[in-house]
Amino acid sequence: MEDIQKRIMQLREELHQHNYNYYVLSAPVIPDVEFDQMLRELQDLENEHPEYFDKNSPTQRVGSDISTSFKQVQHRYPMLSLANTYSEAEIQDFYERIRKALNEDFEIVCELKYDGTSISLLYENGMLSQAITRGDGVQGDDVTENVRTIRSVPLKLRGSDYPDSFEVRGEIMMPWEVFESLNREREKQGEALFANPRNATSGTVKQQNSSIVASRKLDAIFYYLLGEELPTDNHYDNLQKMKSWGIKISSATKKCNTLEEIFSFIRYWDVERKNLPFATDGIVLKVNSLLQQKNLGYTAKSPRWAISFKYQAERALTTLQSVSYQIGRIGTVTPVANLEPVLLSGTIVKRASLHNSDIMENLDLHIGDKLFVEKGGEIIPKIVGVDVNLRTADLGEKVSFVKNCPECGARLIRYEGEAAHYCPNDTGCPPQIKGRIEHFVSRRAMNIEGLGSETIDLLYRIGMINDPSDLYQLKWQELSRLERLGEKSAKNIIAEVEKSVEIPFERVLFALGIRFVGETVAKKIARNMKNMDVIKNASLEELVGIDEVGNRIAESVKAYFEKEPNLQMLERLKEAGVQFSLDETTLAAHSDKLQGKTIVISGTFTLHSRDEYKALIEQHGGKNSGSVSKKTDILLAGDNMGPAKLQKAENWGIKIMNENEFLQMLQE
Ligand code: IVH
Repeated sequence: MEDIQKRIMQLREELHQHNYNYYVLSAPVIPDVEFDQMLRELQDLENEHPEYFDKNSPTQRVGSDISTSFKQVQHRYPMLSLANTYSEAEIQDFYERIRKALNEDFEIVCELKYDGTSISLLYENGMLSQAITRGDGVQGDDVTENVRTIRSVPLKLRGSDYPDSFEVRGEIMMPWEVFESLNREREKQGEALFANPRNATSGTVKQQNSSIVASRKLDAIFYYLLGEELPTDNHYDNLQKMKSWGIKISSATKKCNTLEEIFSFIRYWDVERKNLPFATDGIVLKVNSLLQQKNLGYTAKSPRWAISFKYQAERALTTLQSVSYQIGRIGTVTPVANLEPVLLSGTIVKRASLHNSDIMENLDLHIGDKLFVEKGGEIIPKIVGVDVNLRTADLGEKVSFVKNCPECGARLIRYEGEAAHYCPNDTGCPPQIKGRIEHFVSRRAMNIEGLGSETIDLLYRIGMINDPSDLYQLKWQELSRLERLGEKSAKNIIAEVEKSVEIPFERVLFALGIRFVGETVAKKIARNMKNMDVIKNASLEELVGIDEVGNRIAESVKAYFEKEPNLQMLERLKEAGVQFSLDETTLAAHSDKLQGKTIVISGTFTLHSRDEYKALIEQHGGKNSGSVSKKTDILLAGDNMGPAKLQKAENWGIKIMNENEFLQMLQE
């Protein structure tokens, strides 16, 4: 063996060990910097020597920004669910059923029920070979590349007494801490929040881009071993074997011989689980002996040898003080219950969403009512009912959903088939006006930094801005006189606003915040109609003729350009110099040189960003794709691209171009 290869193997071996110490045992033995140094050395060696590529190398945990659509894979053993129970009486029934059916002694293993997303891993010859989501239980998505980025999932097993081929099932989870910081970050960016760690986890596992998965710091715990040759004849010992191979199992697992022991496990963890880093929502009970499991068998949906016990979501009783309404950027009205503050799962709850008028009316709320507030794995508590027995003679009036917008007085409307009510006064309703300005300046729209929602609120309140076009009339001298802005940030804002006149037309169209016109649709319309006047005068038919534009979108666009205040605002934006047509160079840059060609971009570039290359490909009629397949025509290869991808492209005779060659081709 060559020295280089030896060094690579040695580094991989050591890094696997340190990963295990850190992520599975939570007991690192070297400082982080040292780990990073070793990882970098390995990364460099692997880059220089693609012939030693190994998909299970510790370097492969960082993910890739290549998107993949998932392959559907059949499960070797169907992924069943568990029957749920909610009371000790039901647990007792389960226990008696087992006793009768077996008519011999048995043990029950009690485990925590983790609330994440279930996953099935296939190990072959000690290497992780596939990770599949539950899907419909029969087949699921192949998310191997994403799961490889989870540090507590061993890519290579320890020891040697594992079966040649086996599956382990477990739960992927996002720790509370990671979940909360992710949501804080999303709030800053104006992105929708995840309701709970479970949703955040399943959203992350299904990400097309494994480097995003890697950045989300998921964890995983495994609770079930399957295969033709299992190491022992019982579940509990199999778990210990899994542990010895480096697979993370729960330390809260207990063998019980009596119903009383089971109950005390349940009661203990009902309190103690709140101190765990992960969300749990119950307990799972499993018959320990595999032979007894086999004898008990399965129903169509779940094993007869196991059951889950769900903890009661934490509830509190509190008083309804009032109902208020929140108006979103496009006028959506959300009712909110204002409550007498109450302690629930460690936080003080003062408000809870009532979702929409139907849900609210069904609760038959009266001011002064005692309401049950519940917090499951959710961050936003919900009202689940009214305790009508606690109603007194001095009960307040019945709460009915508002007919008029509480912010501007306009009569609310409801579109057919939609649960929400809307305030139609889009040009005169304050939260909608402010929401539209916030959208206008947001990163993906005009990207004007330094104008947060508080500053926008202030500028609106004192009458300095009333629509996006007013931003272009601001003077730094006026801004710097305001309480919260100094000279530096005032000048900064003005510079940002001035810079935004260079933002391309398609993003300007998106920035207007026309209902249903998201980024993609804005792009399609802009490319097709090329300038604002054409769009303004377009008929419904012409709009519907554009790819991805349906009736609903076309009508919304028409309605926008029929409103006088919008037209005046557009006139002012135009005068300010904002782009109102596709610029000449963009127009000229269009061709059909790449018509019918599928192109994969990979690696890092120096002349243009990846997004710019993506746009170039589209401008020339080509199609961007995330992963190299036999259908790929060109691989646009940058620096540091994965050797596996390069290898694949070479094997399939795909044209590989560097950025100079690629740009040269477009010039010709
Ligand atoms: S055992 C055939 N054990 O709960 C038995 N499941 O409703 C298969 N879960 O899809 C499951 N913690 O995602 C088992 N300790 C645990 C669990 C657990 C969470 C989830 C799992 C499964 C669902 C069953």
